[in-house]
Amino acid sequence: MQIAMATGIQHSFLVSLFMTIAAACGSAAAQDFPPDVTKGKAVYERHCLACHGSGGRGDGPEAAALTVPAANFHRFKSFLKSDEELLRTIEHGVVFSPMHAWYGQLTETEMQDVLAYIRLLVQQGR
Ligand code: HEC
Repeated sequence: MQIAMATGIQHSFLVSLFMTIAAACGSAAAQDFPPDVTKGKAVYERHCLACHGSGGRGDGPEAAALTVPAANFHRFKSFLKSDEELLRTIEHGVVFSPMHAWYGQLTETEMQDVLAYIRLLVQQGR
């Protein structure tokens, strides 16, 4: 009797553990593989640095000439936005601003990689 109860507990523990892992994986499964920050860095330097700056502070070489200043990713405003929200902006751009849509120029994976690189820049506080 005691053995049966013990295995019952163990079983439900394992089921809930499995469900927790499955839920965690499900939420992170926007992409098949984790984003590649090395590739993201290359995309960033090629397409984004001119406006957003090497450290992501919106102070790139072309930033001074912009009518609408490029986003400083270190601002709380950007930091607090979800990945989905920022990806949508990268994909579709910001209306009436120099930030045009990257849809068609970057692949979905490249957008996710470059976002991961932006998050890394902010994390490093550079
Ligand atoms: C021509 C200049 C320019 C280039 C090039 C550029 N951006 Fe932007 N970006 C802007 C401007 C201007 C904004 C709008 C600023 C704002 O909303 O305050 C912006 C906004 C953004 C935002 C939204 C930030 C937020 O907090 O909502 C993201 C994300 C972003 N850019 C990513 C990128 C990425 C990734 C690239 C390269 C693939 C890129 N940008 C290239 C000028 C540029």
